[in-house]
Amino acid sequence: MDYRGTSVAAPSRPAPELDTVGAFDCAEESAHYAFSVQLLLSQYAAVVPWRAEGVGELGSGDARAVGQVVRTMPGLRVHGTDISATSVERARATIDELGVADRYTVELGDFFEWAGSAAGRRISTVIANPPYIPAPDGDILMPELWGGVHGNDLALRLLTVGFEHLLVALPSYSDPAEMLETAADLGYRVANFLAMGLEFGRYSNEPKVRAHIERLVAEGHGWAGDDEYVVAIALLTQSPAVARDRSAQLRRALQLPG
Ligand SMILES: C[S@@+](CC[C@H](N)C(=O)[O-])C[C@H]1O[C@@H](n2cnc3c(N)ncnc32)[C@H](O)[C@@H]1O
Repeated sequence: MDYRGTSVAAPSRPAPELDTVGAFDCAEESAHYAFSVQLLLSQYAAVVPWRAEGVGELGSGDARAVGQVVRTMPGLRVHGTDISATSVERARATIDELGVADRYTVELGDFFEWAGSAAGRRISTVIANPPYIPAPDGDILMPELWGGVHGNDLALRLLTVGFEHLLVALPSYSDPAEMLETAADLGYRVANFLAMGLEFGRYSNEPKVRAHIERLVAEGHGWAGDDEYVVAIALLTQSPAVARDRSAQLRRALQLPG
């Protein structure tokens, strides 16, 4: 990979006005996701057939993250979905602005419906920074970011669809241990990952969410510090071409007990 072409360039336009309900907005997390996707796809190009098949994306948001990656990687095609109409509208504007409409499309709808379609079944790789906010119910700042009571519902569901390769965000407070155990049971290995510490942002700082995270952590469902957590973007693969399994290292990066 040529590091000069990384996707962590400054966004091509200022972040949209703060909109608490319409579209996900966390610049650091999106940049971490984008950079990790680019690095992992590049490093594992011999195993992950993204050049031949393209990739699917669960939850494109405003597309600024992956739009930069598509612009930087000429061989990459991405089919994205998002259930938020505001996000899809913004994503399409971003894609036009970045000039990547021939290789990046975002549809309004549920990723899992697309995954079960003929088009979805032709693709073996999915990228996702999925909704992962844990809360007792979906009545939160942005309901589309609700990841169920433990925060890992959509990530767990992704594992069961049958994609061979998943590049997925694993937050330390959304029971990543359950995710990694389920992945191992389904034959996935952790090929590699990039982990980053993040401060609690507007979504995890919502009092109802924050109190719930404290409970989850106290009950042993993950890790969070006073005002921080860790997010890792990991390549999980069922390919026998990847012999090494870095799940123990990933657990340590997420501050989970050995
Ligand atoms: C954490 S945001 C990530 C956005 C973007 N990928 C980024 O990293 O900047 C998760 C996105 O998933 C979308 N989403 C939630 N459930 C979905 C589903 N079932 N299918 C498709 N998108 C979904 C949300 O609307 C939200 O935009």
